[in-house]
Amino acid sequence: MSQTLTWLSIVGARPQFIKLAPLVRSIQAHNASQEQQIEHIIVHTGQHYDKGLSDVFFAELQIPAPDHHLGVGSGSHGAQTAKMLEGVEKIFLDARPDMVIVFGDTNSTLAGAIAATKLHIPIAHIEAGLRSFNRKMPEEINRILTDHGSDLLLAPTETAVKHLVDEGLSERTVATGDIMYDTVLQNSAIAAEHSTILTDHGLTADEYALVTMHRPSNTDNPERLKAILDTLNEIADTEFPLVLPLHPRTKARLAAFNLDWTPSANFKIIEPVGYLDMMQLMSQARMALTDSGGLQKEAFFLNTPCVTMRDETEWDDTINAGANVLTGADPALIRNAVQAWQSKWENGRPDFTAAARASFGDGHAADQIRDAILDWMKK
Ligand code: UD1
Ligand code: UDP
Repeated sequence: MSQTLTWLSIVGARPQFIKLAPLVRSIQAHNASQEQQIEHIIVHTGQHYDKGLSDVFFAELQIPAPDHHLGVGSGSHGAQTAKMLEGVEKIFLDARPDMVIVFGDTNSTLAGAIAATKLHIPIAHIEAGLRSFNRKMPEEINRILTDHGSDLLLAPTETAVKHLVDEGLSERTVATGDIMYDTVLQNSAIAAEHSTILTDHGLTADEYALVTMHRPSNTDNPERLKAILDTLNEIADTEFPLVLPLHPRTKARLAAFNLDWTPSANFKIIEPVGYLDMMQLMSQARMALTDSGGLQKEAFFLNTPCVTMRDETEWDDTINAGANVLTGADPALIRNAVQAWQSKWENGRPDFTAAARASFGDGHAADQIRDAILDWMKK
């Protein structure tokens, strides 16, 4: 093979920029050392458009500017996905890539997969095989449809492989390790050196907790949202200060519901932060309370105990390793989980490194992914 290969990555939402970064590096390393070149086209759907949810990640993680920006913006699932479909289809017809690469489980992932499969363009799905088994979660539908439409399923863990085998997809599956682990390992030392986020917000290492919340199941139901926020206020008043970089979905819901709630003095609500600040906030936190997918893994990778305010998770390995506890939105369960982690802190910060490596690989998933795609193309 000596002709140039054209790979086209589709991203659109915050966690996808973070997953794209190590793949960009890995393709650059390949091109620097091999005769055969990979042209890597990047398409940004525009699902996330605030600078703090998009541009900051391209800058900090040195991702080249997208070759195409669809600017679809926000909307209902149908409207947003339809605009993306129309936009990416035009680009596919023009660029005729040899492989389309989609990441994770957002509407941008699904749109890329549907458009490519209809044009018979091969699709590689990074972070394939994740299942929460809750079909009311929009991401669950995106995961299932994308996996079944894709040609190459790049699974981050053996648990993900098992889900794909159970669904009859074993022949398309390759275990690669988790690409977000690569991003963490490539950036945590840089974050430690450069981030000033703790002093900016008067936080002391090991003595505050990091909170994030943006799942519709928590934010779009005013009673559930208020129950969580009241519990967090109580924790801030009795245990340790909390810092919450607020996702725009949650901000919009807080404004729309006009909830009878104000944050306690120890509960700092801040704008979304960049990746390096997030690494620093996570690695120094006493614990994390979150409903994010990516944050559950990053807590595990950075030895920070996690409380997941959801009824189920697609990241079972973090639970099975004893690094993460599911509480839903139940105030008593959230308080109990915080107390349990507080007791364990008597022995200092835990070390989850061996468990993380056992489940999520060695932090070189991007190279495995690149090579799996190259192998697939040879066949
Ligand atoms: C999306 C993904 C979710 C992922 C999350 C990462 C889907 C179905 N959901 O959820 O899987 O975990 O991204 O953060 O794809 N908004 C802004 N500025 C922006 C982007 C969004 O203000 O730059 C606001 C808008 O009010 C918008 C709302 O946030 O309606 C939700 O955005 P959307 O991209 O639809 O879903 P997320 O909740 O961000
Ligand atoms: N993140 C960030 N700044 C923030 C919140 C999140 O850099 O203010 C990063 C986080 O470290 C992780 C990714 O964004 O890498 C997760 O995104 P999010 O929680 O929005 O989505 P999910 O993982 O739930 O799909």
